[in-house]
Parts: sequence; C-alpha cells; structure tokens
Amino acid sequence: MSNKVPFLDLVTPHLQLEDELVEVCRDAIQKGWFIGGPNVSGFEEDFAKFCDARHAVGVGSGTDALRFALMAAGVQKDDIVVTVPNTFIATTEAISQVGALPDFVDVDEETYNLDPDKLRQYIGQQCTVNESGKLVHKEKGRPVTAVIPVHLYGRMADMDPIMEIADEYKLIVVEDACQAHGAEYYSEKEGKWKKAGSIGHAAAFSFYPGKNLGACGEGGAATTNDEDIDKKIRMIRDHGQAKKYYHDLEGYNGRLDAMQAGMLRVKLRHLPEWTGKRQVNAAKYNELLNSVDSIDLPLISGGHKDVYHLYVIHTDERDGMQKSLADNEIFAGLHYPVPLHLQKAYEHLGFKEGDFPASEKSASRLLSLPMFPELTEEQQKRVAEKIRQYLSRATKSPRH
Ligand SMILES: Cc1ncc(COP(=O)(O)O)c(C=O)c1O
Repeated sequence: MSNKVPFLDLVTPHLQLEDELVEVCRDAIQKGWFIGGPNVSGFEEDFAKFCDARHAVGVGSGTDALRFALMAAGVQKDDIVVTVPNTFIATTEAISQVGALPDFVDVDEETYNLDPDKLRQYIGQQCTVNESGKLVHKEKGRPVTAVIPVHLYGRMADMDPIMEIADEYKLIVVEDACQAHGAEYYSEKEGKWKKAGSIGHAAAFSFYPGKNLGACGEGGAATTNDEDIDKKIRMIRDHGQAKKYYHDLEGYNGRLDAMQAGMLRVKLRHLPEWTGKRQVNAAKYNELLNSVDSIDLPLISGGHKDVYHLYVIHTDERDGMQKSLADNEIFAGLHYPVPLHLQKAYEHLGFKEGDFPASEKSASRLLSLPMFPELTEEQQKRVAEKIRQYLSRATKSPRH
C-alpha cells in the first residue's frame, strides 16, 4: 500500500455517491433543467435550514456571494469595508469589486480570527463619528460602513462582541463563512448555539470542490435573515431582474448552476457525517501531536464547534517541515503564506511589514496538515511520526 498522504481526497466521496450524482445530471438532461428550477430552489431551502438562516440564495461562487451580499446589504462605492489580512484574496476582491476600499484589522493571536478589541481600537483611533452620526475614517475621509469577519479554517469569529460593535456604529456585518459550513458558536448574548451564516446581516459560503461542502464545479450561496437583502441578492445574481426582462438595477450573471445545485443537495445530506469525521480526525491529530513542544495546535475552546475545513498547526520550523513531509509523500499546504496587506495587488493601499503583526507571524509559521473525512488513523500516525522525526533532526543540527 502506498504511504502517500494526499492533502485532500476529491475522488472517494464522489465515487461513493456516483450513482446519485450521475442521476442528477441524467435527470437535468432529460428534463432540460439547467438554470433555476426545483434543484436550485430545493437546495436553497435545504441549505437555509442547515444554516438556521431564513434565506439562502444560490450563486456562482463564494466570491459572488460576498460581492452580492455587500451590495444588497447597502455598501456603496467609496465606502470602507474592514476585514482581516489573513484571508483568501476573494474577501477583499469582493470589497473592491463593489467599488469600496478594503481596510484591515489584525487577528487574535490564538484564534487567527478578527480580534474584536482591535476592531474597537481601529474605530476609536482611526475613525470618528460625523455630524450625521456616520462612522468616518479620519485620514481617508471615507465612511466605514461594513465589516467582514472571516470564519477561518472552519472556526467562527467571536461574533457577540463583533455584532455589539456593529450595532453601536451601524456597521453592516457580512460573515465570510466560505470555510465554515455548519460551524457553531455559543452566543452568550442569545444564550444559544448559533450556526455560521445565521448571525450577520448576510453571509457568504463557497462550494469550491475542496470545501467541506463542495460542488462538482463552482458554486456558492449567500444566507440572510433579512427579507429585503434576500430579494436584492436574488435580483443581483440574475441581471437585476425579479421579473424576466424587467431590470430594476444592473446585476450580474451569478446564478448557481442547476446541476450543481442538484449535486449539492445530494452531498448536503452527508455533510453532518463528514463534519463529524473531520472533528474526529482533528481530535486524533491533537492527541498525536499534543506532546510535541515546538508546534502550536489549533485552539480548542468552549463556545466553539469547529468544522476543520483546514487543520493548521504553527511552528518556527515550518518551511523545513513542509519540505520534509513532501519528501515523504505527505502533502501539507499554506493558507495563506502572504497576508493580503503585503500582496502586490494591494501595494496601492500603502501598508508595510509590521502593520499587522499577528497576521504576519501566523503567515510565517502556519502549516495545513492533510485533513479530509476519509483520512485514516494510519495516515495520521504517519504524518505525526514524520513531523517528530523531522523535528528531532532539525533541533539537533545547527540552524543556518
Ligand atoms: C475565506 C474565503 N473567502 C472567499 C472564498 C471564495 O470562494 P470561491 O472560490 O467559491 O469564489 C474562499 C474560497 O476559495 C475562501 O476560502
């Protein structure tokens, strides 16, 4: 048997469901259901229920979902939208693509998610409330109207204080839940568990194939509890029309493909079981790696049920460790190696190294280990063994 440990497995779950998935395509071909129709509306209903949200709108990708959610919730051209630097560029692309300006607040050093205290500091130090009660960035002179907390790696951001700050300053909150299908957070304020996508004014999910719920192609969804936002996203995804050829606004071609919706519907039924397996695998890694001194494991804390889209460790030995694992056919990834404020694409924003220390430190030390539901205990033991072997060699030999 091969000792290879892939980063993820996109084949096994699809082969297990092959008959049902093929049936969706056959049915669509036989009935001519390619755009809209019962697969899309059925999936939207199922997914809204899964997220404990009132509405879900199927769209073309997670990036579409973010962009449409920001537009529908009221972000205007030239506004500032605040997010974190340690996310996938789609988060800030969506901000720029609605004509707004991305700005950053650093993350918490242990959770790698938006730090509510730093958000408060940002507002207190860099912003002011003008005569009409609007929050405005002092230096940039633009209104700060929205915040996008990213539920990175499948762990939800600390939503209670974020929503409290948002209420206080009338900020729109769009959750970037693209990595967090089914993740939960205990809201002390509401005294109950809340699902990703059910707290902010709107939320965005990606169904990119490698996500916890992945399409067999591209796909995404926006969720919201607000009827007006739901209606608006539905129009924006379909050229600004609620009635065919009557366009109330300019929108996009951003619909969820009907075959993808049908296949997502099949796969959604298995998501709780797959999430359970990810959680068992994460617990196994924790047990196997717990006694290794020079690595930090993902935080476990009360009030969070994480769904481990990624299992990310942090270590000063990251680069050598990743290479040594690859030499042993164990494939680990980097999510993400360069924080957005230091990317070439954002040179024009004028940030420099040192501006967001927690994100920068994390970027230089993070390593995503293989994580997927079908990962076996033997594979995990091999990953842990190779990590230990590498560290015992690395700590013995002098550093260059
Ligand atoms: C945090 C985050 N935001 C946004 C996206 C964008 O999703 P998509 O690739 O479906 O456009 C992704 C996924 O790639 C993501 O991980």
